[in-house]
Amino acid sequence: MSGEAGTDVPLCDIAGENRALAGPILAALQRVLTGGQVILGPEVAAFEQEVAAFCGVRHAVACSSGTDALVLALHALGIGPGDEVIVPTFTFFATAGAVCRVGATPVFADIEPHTYGLDPADVVRRLSPRSRAIIPVHLFGQACDMTAIRAIAEEHTLYIIEDVAQAFGSRYQERTCGSLGHAGTLSFYPTKNLGAAGDAGMVLTDQDGLARRMRALRVHGSEVRYYHREVGYNMRLDALQAAILRVKLPQVPRWLEQRRQAADRYRRLITAAGLEQFLCPPVVLPQRYHTFNQYVVRVPASYRDALAQFLKSQQIGVEIYYPLCLHQQECFRRLGYRQGDFPQAEQAAATVLALPMFPGITEQQQQRVIDACAAFVARLPQPARRAA
Ligand SMILES: Cc1ncc(COP(=O)(O)O)c(C=O)c1O
Repeated sequence: MSGEAGTDVPLCDIAGENRALAGPILAALQRVLTGGQVILGPEVAAFEQEVAAFCGVRHAVACSSGTDALVLALHALGIGPGDEVIVPTFTFFATAGAVCRVGATPVFADIEPHTYGLDPADVVRRLSPRSRAIIPVHLFGQACDMTAIRAIAEEHTLYIIEDVAQAFGSRYQERTCGSLGHAGTLSFYPTKNLGAAGDAGMVLTDQDGLARRMRALRVHGSEVRYYHREVGYNMRLDALQAAILRVKLPQVPRWLEQRRQAADRYRRLITAAGLEQFLCPPVVLPQRYHTFNQYVVRVPASYRDALAQFLKSQQIGVEIYYPLCLHQQECFRRLGYRQGDFPQAEQAAATVLALPMFPGITEQQQQRVIDACAAFVARLPQPARRAA
């Protein structure tokens, strides 16, 4: 995932984002380099405070990646061997990988077809006496049904760790994603709504004790240097990344609005081209501020891969997030799931296609994407032009 140099309409535009802020970014880097503290320190602490305020939580604990943020939260909540954690089967691998890294077992659940969020009814079906936590993933930038998920967690005394990697700044009702559970994990991978110039992540929480334990765990379990109450990790964040992220953070509200406007434009262009049956636009539920980290349409399964290939041949950046559910991954075969166990997730994996989406995408670029889709569809026999 990069800016895809040489692509007429890239999937995302990391270079453009950095170019627009080159002056302040270089000044921030100079400040850190000449200041001397290049790992953690005041730059990271300031960034933590700014993100905590932005998301409406008491604590933000910066760390080395979104994956490590999940591990940190799980470990600090005391989740480990013998425990089960419910995760959607349709998500990026890290959500379940982190559960395995603390020695617990991921238990997969299906998704709701329109939001791609965890299906609360299926979560209930997957509960066992070993269940300790639920990880709802706000996939592509739209919040899960947090009212239902919170009710389940409360009834069964489970932790909620929101995976907010793809939904920085998204909201559920009036609250920012990441503030709705016991912990919320962020990724600042360069393609995210707030992206670093490398790997970076963070955990949000309102709980003082949890934040304190995570701060220790990210530096080998030490609160006082060279004294270790428990064994932790090296999950420190570089000050250079924090400095870049601090330059970008104030731009986020404007960027999110631009993403939402681009999503509206896609919908209009798809409808104007008469393609809404073939290229089904995303559904946005009321009371959810969708931030479109990805703009994902549904395409009939039998044509999805061919359309993706065709668009790439036209220098249009597209991606399939994700071609395989987690229960279908080779490394999880040992868990004993079968094809057909998660019908909505499997259908999503067969039909999703992410179109170019970034804050500065122009109407002309979007028109070119939709024109190319129309050219592909025009070559199909008439009955094939129906949605999945
Ligand atoms: C849903 C989800 N969870 C977790 C992660 C992991 O984040 P990182 O790549 O920063 O480790 C990602 C990153 O792509 C993600 O999309």
